[in-house]
Amino acid sequence: MKPHYLLSLLAALAAGAHAGSPGEAVYQSTCMACHGERGTGIPGLAPPLAGSLGRQLAAPQARDYLTHLLLAGMSGRIRVDGQVYNGIMPPQAAMKDADLAAVMTYVAAELNPGAPALVVEANDVAKARGTPMKPSQVHGLRQKLMGE
Ligand code: HEC
Repeated sequence: MKPHYLLSLLAALAAGAHAGSPGEAVYQSTCMACHGERGTGIPGLAPPLAGSLGRQLAAPQARDYLTHLLLAGMSGRIRVDGQVYNGIMPPQAAMKDADLAAVMTYVAAELNPGAPALVVEANDVAKARGTPMKPSQVHGLRQKLMGE
């Protein structure tokens, strides 16, 4: 093995170790294709998540909305940062409770800094699995939460 190859391999390993929280890794593999790098959103496809959830996270119903959203997905017209989206968020229920909790905590805490810290636990996801919802019902939860 040539020394420069070894060095770049070490650099890559160091960068990997620096990649951040487990939730960030889940985000990058599962959510980023639609919601963009670090939650910037993709116009016409999926809304931004970065900085757009602030006010919402303070409400006690935020945890319910976000856990059910991950499990059931969502459909229906929403407005985010003044833009209208009318897409379909596919259900993510095949994923483990711990991964769903980690990714939502990443979205809430790391993509929405300054917002009240919302930590989603695996237990919250398990509890939401007990009361399954339809994507349109999740939309109803959002409209209530946002006062729309
Ligand atoms: C196939 C594309 C797609 C994937 C993959 C996807 N989403 Fe979504 N997501 C959407 C769409 C589209 C909406 C808006 C649905 C609507 O218009 O009702 C949405 C809505 C959301 C919202 C609600 C935002 C708000 O303002 O209320 C959150 C939070 C969210 N997604 C998080 C995630 C997370 C976390 C993942 C990964 C586990 C993920 N999404 C994966 C397309 C996607």
